[in-house]
Order: sequence, then C-alpha cells, then structure tokens
Amino acid sequence: MCGIIGYIGNKEAMPILLQGLRRLEYRGYDSAGIAILNDQETRDKIQIQRIRAVGKIDALADKLKNKDKEMKGTIGIAHTRWATHGGVTEENAHPHFACDGKLIIAHNGIIENYRQLKEHLGAKHSFKSETDTEVLAHLIESHYDGDLRRAVEKALMHTRGTYGLVVMHADHPDKIVAARLGSPLVVGIGDGEYYVASDAAPLLAYTKKVAFLNDGEIAEISRSGFETFNLRDESVTKCVEEIEWNEEKAQKQGYDDFMLKEIFDQPVVYEDAIRGRIDLEEGTAHLGGLDMSDAEMRSVNRIILIACGTALHAAMAGKYAFERLSGIPTEVDVASEFRYRDPIIDNKTLVFAISQSGETFDTLAALREAKRKGAFTRGIVNVIGSTIARETDGGTYIHAGPELAVASTKAYTNMVAILLLYAVQFGRLRHMTVATGQRLVRALMEIPEKMQVILKKSEEIKKLAGKYSGYHDFLFLARGINFPVASEGSLKLKEISYIHSEAYPAGEMKHGVNALLSPEFPVLAIMTKNQLYEKMRSNIEEVRARKSKVILLASEGDAEAQSLADDIIYVPQTMELLEPLLNTIPLQLFAYHMAVILGKDVDRPRNLAKSVTVE
Ligand code: G6P
Repeated sequence: MCGIIGYIGNKEAMPILLQGLRRLEYRGYDSAGIAILNDQETRDKIQIQRIRAVGKIDALADKLKNKDKEMKGTIGIAHTRWATHGGVTEENAHPHFACDGKLIIAHNGIIENYRQLKEHLGAKHSFKSETDTEVLAHLIESHYDGDLRRAVEKALMHTRGTYGLVVMHADHPDKIVAARLGSPLVVGIGDGEYYVASDAAPLLAYTKKVAFLNDGEIAEISRSGFETFNLRDESVTKCVEEIEWNEEKAQKQGYDDFMLKEIFDQPVVYEDAIRGRIDLEEGTAHLGGLDMSDAEMRSVNRIILIACGTALHAAMAGKYAFERLSGIPTEVDVASEFRYRDPIIDNKTLVFAISQSGETFDTLAALREAKRKGAFTRGIVNVIGSTIARETDGGTYIHAGPELAVASTKAYTNMVAILLLYAVQFGRLRHMTVATGQRLVRALMEIPEKMQVILKKSEEIKKLAGKYSGYHDFLFLARGINFPVASEGSLKLKEISYIHSEAYPAGEMKHGVNALLSPEFPVLAIMTKNQLYEKMRSNIEEVRARKSKVILLASEGDAEAQSLADDIIYVPQTMELLEPLLNTIPLQLFAYHMAVILGKDVDRPRNLAKSVTVE
C-alpha cells in the first residue's frame, strides 16, 4: 500500500502535493517523492523536475526547502512509498522516469510479470531502480506515439497484477492520466482544478466533490475536466459524489476504526501475498526470497518458527501445515523463551522469524541466537527493510500493507498464507504429489471469495457481540488446526475489549478447565467439518451439560450443528489446513464489535504497543 496524489489546476502544485502526502503518510512512509511539470512561460523548454527522499515526508519537505523556483508549476504528481519490490532507497522511491526524462509515473500495487516485461523491453531501455513501477514507465514509453492515454491503455494490456497509477508527460503540460486496477484512486473536482489521490483524505481541504475510479478504468484529467475510459478505449460515464467524511474517516476509507478497515482489507491483501507465488501447473509455490537451493531445502530436517503475539498464532497454524505437507518436524517457539533456553540447532535446522513489524525485540534476539548456532535463518515479515528482514539470510514479505491498529489482523492472515505456501513448496520437493499440490493451491486461490462471504456477516456478528457483551469471561475451544484460531480469537478479545478469555484445546478440558464451566462462562467453539469434527462434537456436548452458553463456528450447510448451539456463525468450507485463513475472521469481528459496544479505544488498547522493541 502506498499513497499517490496528483494535481492539475491554476495554483502552485508543490505545496498542495506536499500537504497531500502528509495526509497519505499513513499508507506508507519509507520514502517519498514529488515531480512537477515546469510549465512556466518564462522557461524555454518544458521539463519535469523530481525530488525524492528516503524516510518520512519531513525528509522530503527538508529537501524541497528553497526549491520553489526549480519546482515551480501547476501540475504535478507525488507518492509516499511502502516498499514491495526493491529496498528502501532513493533510487527506488517514486515517481519513476522512463528513459527520455519526459514520461514519469507514480504507482501503487504490484506488477506481477515485471521481470518478463523487463526482459522483453530489453537493452533499449536503461533501468535505474529495482522496482516493478519503473518497468511500467518504460513499457508505457514503448507504446507512446503522441497519445499518452492510449500508451497507458496499451501498456496495461500487457501487465498482470494490480495498480493505481498516475502518469505525466512533458509534452502534455495539460494532462494527468490515472488508471486503477485493485489499488484505489479517487478524482477530486475543484473549480478549474482537479486532484487525483489514493483516497479522499488529501482532497478534503480543497473539495468534497469526488469521483471514484473503478477497476479497469482510466481517467484523463485536464484543467477543464476529466474523462474516463475502460481499457478497450470506450468512454465510461462517472457520477460525481459529495463526500461527508472528515479526514480521519477518509484515511479509514469510511470505516470507523483502522482495525475494522484492516479486517476488511484481508481479501485484497491476501491476494497480494499469494500473487505471482503460486504455480498451478506444477501444484507448488515459488517464494524466491527463500534463497535456498532445492538440495538445501531437502537437507532441512527440522523447522523452528519463532514469533510473539499474533505472529505466534500464525506460526502455530504453520506448524500443522509444515508437518502434514512436508513431513519436516516443526516446532513453534515463543521468541522470549527460545532465546533463554538451549535450543538444539544445527546446519540442517531452518529457523523462520515471523514478525509484522520486523522489529520485535525478542523475535530479533531469538533470530540472532539461531544464527549464532548455525541455522538457516529466514524472515516472514511485513515491513520492508526492517531489522529482521535485514538480518535474516533471506525470506518473504507478506505484503499486508501498513497495519496501523495495534491488534494485528491482516498481517496474521498473510503470515498464515505465506507459511502455507512454504509448506507446499517444501512438500513438493519431498513426497507430495502434483495432484495434492494442485488441490492445495487451487483452494488457496479460492480463499478471497470465501473471506468476502464471512465479511458480509459483520452485522450479524455485531448483534451476537451485543448479546454477549455482559459476560466477563470467555472460553475459546477448538482442536487441531483450529486451536491456533481459537488462541488468536481469544487474544483479540483480551487485547481490545479487556474481557478475560482463554483458549483451550478441547481435548484438554477434562484436565482442569471443566471446573470453570457455568452459565456465566460462555464458550465459543469451532466445529467446522474436518477430521476432528466428531471429537469436537463430543466436547461441545460436555460443555452444554455444564450449562455454559455455546456460540458455534460451523461449516455452511451443517444443519445438525444448530442443536448444539445457542448461537451459530456459519463459515464457508475449505481444505482443513487452510481453515485459519477463514475461521479467524469471524473471531476478529466478534472481538472488534465487542470492544466497540463496550466503548473501548479499538485501535489503541490500553497498555499495549504496536511494536514491542524492548525486552
Ligand atoms: C505486539 C502487538 C501485536 C503483535 C506482537 C508481535 O504485541 O501488539 O499485535 O502481534 O507485538 O509483533 P510483530 O511485529 O513481531 O508481529
């Protein structure tokens, strides 16, 4: 996720763009850049000036000081970056020029086939960065014959992946071309001036009149208006809306809290995580960043997953996948425990450090310990260029985009997705058949649609949360692959609603927790259709016999489950190992709505921090 803003009008563009970037900084903040088309009459040659800086917007603002003359112009584009392809450097910061220094682009999203496109463009083009975006700039340039919009349309026909993009060209001082597929863009309509941005937040200071671009649409924006087309060059009529949001609400894309927005982001960011990494034909996954030869991967005889908090629950789900699909013994370790015991590690051990921030102190310390002892160390991290990403010998970014709510949601899902992809990849190098691999990757591809089905139940889950908001204790009960889900559901509830809750493997109830069961202790049980269904059923009967209320998470179509439940949430079915990708979402929603009902500060729960960089 990155932030884009463009302006064309009659005012100086630079201050508008800089201010806009500040409003968009929440979308990405590792580097930023501004390009202005210098269209002043005093200049004999129209040209584009660009200034970029690594770091937050302040770093860019410092570089722009005293540059008013150089950066003079009434049309420009700007970008704040959340790195995906290419490290955090000035060369990789947007906007990116094509070869001739006339065409410039800022882009949000991932161009999946950028390597092939780069090869195809060949030696005629010289690339200055490692980004997929720069390849797109050159691709547009290669299609340019005087018509900028057509060049963008033609280039986009050859891309796979997602984009929200803005393009400017020195030969067109009266035009910005914008296009959207998967990454949002909104056009702001002023009086003789137009804006285009990733969301409405930076526009609100100037206008409330907006038009949202849909996927597959291209807008040609000038000082006198804007026209919209589809990729087949047919004109599309847009309706102009009046938005009533304030800036904060616009940043949350209309949701009340970042946590809710991030819960709803999951289908889209999940696709970012698996995009380009699945090989349907071979029934496998390719996670390039692993940087291990097939022989090295086959030599691994033990995997250790280290993490904290929500990442730990993703790791727990990953253990099931690794063991079942690859046959490699896999342990999960709480990072703070791992580093102080004497972990048995050798050069056949593969240690994954899993962390959203890539900065969690204990995870980092555990990783260093594993490295010292000679393990292969790899990261599964969200924040590009974070310490864990830098200190591991390779790894994979989960591409969840900035996660701002303290309670992690979308990062968890994407961590599970990446662990599943790894498990498939390792499995296919061992005994897994191509048919099994294909079944798994196909099921992985069906997940976003099923996530949408669950998200539509948000209101239903809200009612449920209301019904149970008077209770002080909860038990989350599950078996097998759903035990990590129950653990995450329980953590979410604790973190943001401050309600005491525990997660237990259902088979362990008889050894203590049964003593707590009573009408005051509701149980949220996961009883989806998998190999432990019957076992779970018996455990729920036991709970009911002790008069606890039962909220059941069951598979769609399981009518029998009704008789066991006081309340029921149905979820779509998937392959057993993939269940955490779906079953966690209703529990995130349950915790979210509960916290809102109880009047808690959902995004900033008391006593907790997003990134724990101390021991
Ligand atoms: C903190 C956050 C949690 C997060 C945990 C691990 O406790 O509040 O949401 O799961 O740290 O963070 P990491 O960045 O390593 O995933």
